[in-house]
Amino acid sequence: MSGVVVVGSINADLGVRVARHPKPGETLLGAGGGITPGGKGANQALAASLQGADVTMIGAVGSDPYAAPATTLLRESGVNLDAVDITGETTGLAVIAVADDGENTIIFVPGANATVTDEQVRQHADALREAEITLLQGEIPASGFAAATELAGGRVVVNLAPVIDVPRDALLKADPIMANEHEAGLILEQLGVQAATEEPRELATALLEAGFTSVVLTLGAHGALVATPEKIMDIPTPKVQAVDTTGAGDAFAGAFVARLLAGDDMVAAARHAARVGAFTTLSAGAQNSYPGLAAVLPEVQG
Ligand code: RIB
Repeated sequence: MSGVVVVGSINADLGVRVARHPKPGETLLGAGGGITPGGKGANQALAASLQGADVTMIGAVGSDPYAAPATTLLRESGVNLDAVDITGETTGLAVIAVADDGENTIIFVPGANATVTDEQVRQHADALREAEITLLQGEIPASGFAAATELAGGRVVVNLAPVIDVPRDALLKADPIMANEHEAGLILEQLGVQAATEEPRELATALLEAGFTSVVLTLGAHGALVATPEKIMDIPTPKVQAVDTTGAGDAFAGAFVARLLAGDDMVAAARHAARVGAFTTLSAGAQNSYPGLAAVLPEVQG
């Protein structure tokens, strides 16, 4: 068994800058409008590859002009794209507005990602059986997600972003489930747990009690928590002046998995992943901002 198989989305990101996010019904002046590679699946695949992992991607693009820019960095970094189908749909599109404070809003149009169904995923069963880690997000259909967890021969890591309805058994295979605080609340709701808390440690504990083997709760500028039934560990993150947080969570997930494959435990992997995530916020875009192994990552202060 070796490497990581990412079953997930591949998007063209259409990015604009705004001074602040518009209110409903409001028109604002923006800048930018360029296309860059994105998609939570592709972002995590690239981050893992740049951090030294052997990566195979299962996904789909369209046969349109966005397919090439959406996959260019994956191809350049050596991610195996043999299981990326070229469909008659349009390539997935994300319209991303980034405000001056670095925060973004994203509108995701699935396009070809909607064809990553049970049927498509099963065509790549061998790759999933051989993978040491299968990494999943929420930008593909639930049937494809469930098939991947069923066929996975190794560890399943899930970053359910966005939170979609998936079968309970499939979801509980996640080890760890990786989520931010908002997503954690939605995942608990999906599992029928009323979490009357937004406190990170209580959320992590509730996820463990709901049946997950382990939990990684990402807390943005406040770092992360790694939780198992034995202990909950705080993971610090470097303090940086964020320019654009798009794809920082994906970089965290990809780097985390790359470090697990290299032999780190979850705490060590998350410490490294937090520094990778912080690095990506220092420049614009998702994949464009991801570091390779030679990059100098920001240090955790204190
Ligand atoms: O997490 C960031 C990603 O979300 C973007 O690259 C965009 O494609 C959306 O899917």
